[in-house]
Amino acid sequence: MTTILVTGGTGTLGRPVTERLRAGGHEVRVLSRHSEPYAVDLRRGGIGLDTALAGVDTVVHCATTQRGGDERSAVNLIAAARRAGVAHLVHISIVGVDRVPLGYYRSKLAVEKLVEESGLGWTVLRATQFHDLVVQVLQSLAKVPVVVLPAHAADQPVAVAEVADRLAGLAAGAPAGRVPDLGGPEVRTFESLARAYLTATGRRRAVVNVPLAGKTYRAFREGGHLAPEHAVGKGTFEEYLTVRYGGGADGRRG
Ligand SMILES: NC(=O)c1ccc[n+]([C@@H]2O[C@H](COP(=O)([O-])OP(=O)(O)OC[C@H]3O[C@@H](n4cnc5c(N)ncnc54)[C@H](OP(=O)(O)O)[C@@H]3O)[C@@H](O)[C@H]2O)c1
Repeated sequence: MTTILVTGGTGTLGRPVTERLRAGGHEVRVLSRHSEPYAVDLRRGGIGLDTALAGVDTVVHCATTQRGGDERSAVNLIAAARRAGVAHLVHISIVGVDRVPLGYYRSKLAVEKLVEESGLGWTVLRATQFHDLVVQVLQSLAKVPVVVLPAHAADQPVAVAEVADRLAGLAAGAPAGRVPDLGGPEVRTFESLARAYLTATGRRRAVVNVPLAGKTYRAFREGGHLAPEHAVGKGTFEEYLTVRYGGGADGRRG
């Protein structure tokens, strides 16, 4: 049995990773800003982080914030993991962090480099967007009568359960370096994802595709965030929608 610390173990990905590792017989600690007894803000580090890491063999780093500070968090986590003699640091990243010049992606790429140069045994897995995130984005776009989408852009969403399976498997193994990307089963236009979401939730909205300007949009349009050669995920967006919203006549439930 190994002792594993999951940072961000209360998040969309961290929760199922934690469940799988516990089911596999590991002793698992969950660290986040709000999860006692390991409530630690990684951006600040400190004694609480050292306590959380004492006796830990492996760290699965799922903590993140879109508000900035992930690099600082990684620096603190790595320094404390080195002090604690952690053998393996597993990090989840995103397909295209080296191709799409979005601020959040740049910081994810910087964190990957910190992990690779940490001096610890390390594993990095990049995944495409989770179904949950696509729905979150569409929920906010569908608040108005016309859903405005970026023209000629696609996505390849993946089931978070499958990413959790893979990450838990990697955490239970030896450091593997950068492993093959994990992409969802289908590359879909945003429009087809939006229409599936609108059908599943019984919303009637006009959908308009608008070409956007700028380097980030161009990188998305060119598929910098996609991994069609690693379309190994099985769960489709429709299957996710059926579980989440039900599959009645118009697909609507709750
Ligand atoms: N979502 C996607 O589509 C997707 C796709 C590919 C890869 N990823 C990667 O997967 C990882 C997990 O994403 P997610 O969607 O599961 O994130 P999430 O649901 O937003 O969860 C973030 C977790 O991090 C914790 N956290 C945030 N700031 C923290 C801090 N300063 N110190 C300690 N804990 C902190 C949060 O808990 P507290 O609020 O309690 O601190 C929470 O447990 C991220 O690295 C993300 O880049 C995500």
